[in-house]
Amino acid sequence: MNGDPLLVNKVVGSVIFAGLIAMVAGFIANLAYSPQMLDKMAYKIGGNAPVQSASATAAPAGPEDITGMLASADAAAGEKLFKKCAACHTYKKGGPTKQGPNLWNVVGGDRGVVAGFKYSKDMKEMAGKWTIADLNTFLYKPKMLVKKTKMNFAGFKKAKDRANIIMFLHGKADTPMALPK
Ligand code: HEC
Repeated sequence: MNGDPLLVNKVVGSVIFAGLIAMVAGFIANLAYSPQMLDKMAYKIGGNAPVQSASATAAPAGPEDITGMLASADAAAGEKLFKKCAACHTYKKGGPTKQGPNLWNVVGGDRGVVAGFKYSKDMKEMAGKWTIADLNTFLYKPKMLVKKTKMNFAGFKKAKDRANIIMFLHGKADTPMALPK
């Protein structure tokens, strides 16, 4: 009786296979374990602290930060995307109000100040200036930033689209603001 000529191959093969399974299992265990750690941390920070930390723990559901993308953002691509806004907005200086306000000077400019436009109560109360970070959230999902906003727009889910449109609007100002680094 001869032994199986492939025996050595088979043994080596199964040892490698077992090693692989162990690696994959370890990897999956890691994946499953880390979110749990995060939950615990988020819970501790959230605890009984004031309202703000509640929104901080909810933040991961928000849009991807685009600050680092601005330097290479494409304003010409942003102009094409503006077609989605043009039903409700104009961007030229002194342009008319449509369903939404004119957007000249909006990036870095004051919120809710276009004369003659009737903003939602929430937008009026929010006041302040349109930072890149706020625009990033607003254009990702308007209601995420301004709860009862009148702006009925689904939002851009692609970070690149938001960077491009913000870059386009950034140029539509008397003195474009310095971009955050
Ligand atoms: C269906 C109409 C509609 C569309 C489409 C729309 N908007 Fe608006 N937008 C509005 C309205 C209405 C408001 C005022 C919101 C409020 O008062 O709550 C607004 C407000 C804004 C503001 C704040 C302006 C200010 O004066 O503070 C910005 C910025 C803005 N929109 C950008 C955009 C961009 C960029 C797009 C395209 C990606 C877009 N919007 C698409 C209707 C629209």
